[in-house]
Amino acid sequence: MAQLWGGRFTKATDELVNAYNASIYFDKRFFTQDIRGSKAHVTMLAKQNILTDEEAKAIVAGLESIERDVNEGKLLITDEYEDIHSFNEANLIDRIGEVGKKLHTGRSRNDQVALDMRLYIRDELDETARLMKELLLTVEEVIENNVDTYMPGFTHMQKAQPVTLAHHFGAYFEMFRRDLERLSSIRERMNVCPLGSGALAGTTYPLDREYVAQLLGFDRACNNSMDGVSDRDYVVEYLDALCLIMMHMSRLSEEIICWNSNEYGFIELDDSYSTGSSIMPQKKNPDIAELVRGKTGRVYGSLVSLLTTMKGLPLAYNKDMQEDKELTFDAIDTVNDSLKLMDGLIKTARFNKAKMAKSAVGGYINATDAADYLVRKGVPFRDAHSIIGRLVLKCIEKNTDMDSLPLEDYKAECDAFEADVYEAISLETCVAKRLTKGAPGAMKAAIAENRAYLGLEPLA
Ligand code: ARG
Repeated sequence: MAQLWGGRFTKATDELVNAYNASIYFDKRFFTQDIRGSKAHVTMLAKQNILTDEEAKAIVAGLESIERDVNEGKLLITDEYEDIHSFNEANLIDRIGEVGKKLHTGRSRNDQVALDMRLYIRDELDETARLMKELLLTVEEVIENNVDTYMPGFTHMQKAQPVTLAHHFGAYFEMFRRDLERLSSIRERMNVCPLGSGALAGTTYPLDREYVAQLLGFDRACNNSMDGVSDRDYVVEYLDALCLIMMHMSRLSEEIICWNSNEYGFIELDDSYSTGSSIMPQKKNPDIAELVRGKTGRVYGSLVSLLTTMKGLPLAYNKDMQEDKELTFDAIDTVNDSLKLMDGLIKTARFNKAKMAKSAVGGYINATDAADYLVRKGVPFRDAHSIIGRLVLKCIEKNTDMDSLPLEDYKAECDAFEADVYEAISLETCVAKRLTKGAPGAMKAAIAENRAYLGLEPLA
């Protein structure tokens, strides 16, 4: 195995030790970030006259040729190297000779890996944010197209009060918006450059840390070198944000799975986003929604795993931290793919408006509105509540709903009822009357707010 150390060793490393210690099979993911960081480092070394301009130029050109050859498939990243840092440095020395050995001046693999991981996570976080924005645009489209798609709203999974599909998706808009805002606040906090922290105690070379930070798009260099090499808070925070994104998508998946069932029939998933059964020819299954729900546990696992890895670590760098990568990479892939799939699933789904409206009429869902009707006629709410309760019983007895119960039945319970009760408890009225901020009748204002957030033109 090609490694960056060995001078003080008199025996070869045990094979299993090599295999157990090596990280190249996963840290090759930040190959590009490692090259980028090294280029910035040598550029700064030359500016500080620690290297000559010629030396820096030769190193940068060598690094760029490695990057090109790997990207074109001419150079393979193989596991004969311990990690991606060794791969790049060894190949550099192979290509440009002695001067390549100067790349690592004033740097340790501890601040190098701290930098690479930060650059890599920042790139992935930006991609997650881009996908979140796409999903928000899709959710907003559903909202705007379904302001008058009536459906039952549930509490305890019992029909409770009528809402609209726009209102229901409006709740998911809020969740996903918070997710996106969370990502941007994490990005702000993490945008600090650890390079120059050295192994843990900085370096004796006159590095210009702020200059490197600037070259790499960071806001500043980190304040403390021991923290610089051992801080993985931003990975924990990112995983936490990914967990919440999955939790929200999992809740939506659960609803989609219910709505797609024969019993609900509120939604029909497109063939391109469904799967079949090997035995039951009639089946069209919502596997993607089920997998999003199922993979949520796996993403939670990555967060708990990293928190556990970090909890006992003394300052500064410890090899345990190498465990920050594999599960994090897995979580990122899982979430980014889930976001793309959820977006496509919603975009291609058809909502069965008639079925939703029909379901919203049943279940005495307008009982609260009937009570409010009596309140408007001067009946105290507590009395109205019990009058309507008895009317619901009557409906159950007669196997009908509030909308079809004859006026005599209403009058028999309370003579304040008049023919206008039917209009007062219609689905349309129930929704339209709920005008307070955040309620289903106030979706026009919500849409305006959402569009402003997404940078869309206001609706005419
Ligand atoms: N593969 C290591 C990691 O991911 C790189 C840093 C190695 N540093 C060291 N002192 N062995 O953490």
